[in-house]
Amino acid sequence: MAPNDRSPVTVIGLGLMGSALARTLVGHGHPTTVWNRTAEKADELVALGATLAATPRDAVLASPTVIVCVTDYPAAYEVLESCGDALSGRRLVNLSTGTPEQAHEASAWASERGAHYLDGAVMATPSGVGGSEAVLFYSGAEEVFAAEREMLNRLGGATSYLGADYGLASVYDSSLLGVEWGLLSGYFHAFSLVGTEGAKASAFLPVAMQFLRSIEAVFHEVARQVDEGKYPSDEETLDIHLNAMEHLIETSRARGIGVTVPEFYKSIIARAVALGHGDDGLPSAFEAVKRPG
Ligand SMILES: NC(=O)c1ccc[n+]([C@@H]2O[C@H](COP(=O)([O-])OP(=O)(O)OC[C@H]3O[C@@H](n4cnc5c(N)ncnc54)[C@H](OP(=O)(O)O)[C@@H]3O)[C@@H](O)[C@H]2O)c1
Repeated sequence: MAPNDRSPVTVIGLGLMGSALARTLVGHGHPTTVWNRTAEKADELVALGATLAATPRDAVLASPTVIVCVTDYPAAYEVLESCGDALSGRRLVNLSTGTPEQAHEASAWASERGAHYLDGAVMATPSGVGGSEAVLFYSGAEEVFAAEREMLNRLGGATSYLGADYGLASVYDSSLLGVEWGLLSGYFHAFSLVGTEGAKASAFLPVAMQFLRSIEAVFHEVARQVDEGKYPSDEETLDIHLNAMEHLIETSRARGIGVTVPEFYKSIIARAVALGHGDDGLPSAFEAVKRPG
């Protein structure tokens, strides 16, 4: 596609993330209209070639597709409520972070105003936006994703459409936040433990990453077993893991480091064992995590 074939787009919200999105679109030659509550934040983008709209309504009227990236959904409503009927017939892509329930409410809100709604999540830092590794995903109106696929792909090399359920992107976003903190907490404890032998976190990390890559197939197997709800103990049982976790706690205590993280892991395993999964495989701990209480 030649640069002058780029579709016009509007970006509302020029905080750290909105500015990165707008900068990327301008950089790819999209005629980009921007609006931000604090107008000065548009200066750099205007210098790069973006057009600053005087009002949110003018910004919406400037393009068939409007990307909103503000702090949260209430802030998005605050801006968009002032647009009157301008959203009618337009594609609204919301990249503000929220809950799946808020995404569903926003789809109904947009539909009442005649807009086609796509909810999305950016799983990248502002400096990563536009890069080949940047993960962005979307859910909701497939026609919006299909119509703007080229433009959305320019915001990140790992862009995907998850499905028609408006809440999917948000629920994936929140779930991945949990995955990130699960990994981080494990690393924090491991850094503490190897530190007791004088090993630096940066020396341990490459080994840990190598280990993680080596067990990718295990994660596929865990997901398969979770989907099937059957946890054969072909390799190791939860009882054995409960034992192993006791050792990790003991070792940590003996070295004077915190045991919050391994105690938390132990609580999950012990609960699964109490639910009757002691003789089942490791993925059966999922049953303990899933149940409330
Ligand atoms: N930064 C990241 O690494 C990152 C990564 C993934 C997702 N996100 C998501 O992207 C969204 C924006 O994050 P950010 O990092 O760009 O935040 P930010 O730098 O704090 O910017 C917030 C933006 O929201 C606007 N805003 C807030 N309340 C408003 C209101 N009542 N009316 C109008 N505008 C309002 C701000 O306008 P003013 O400039 O006038 O204050 C600004 O444009 C968030 O939902 C965040 O979770 C961010």
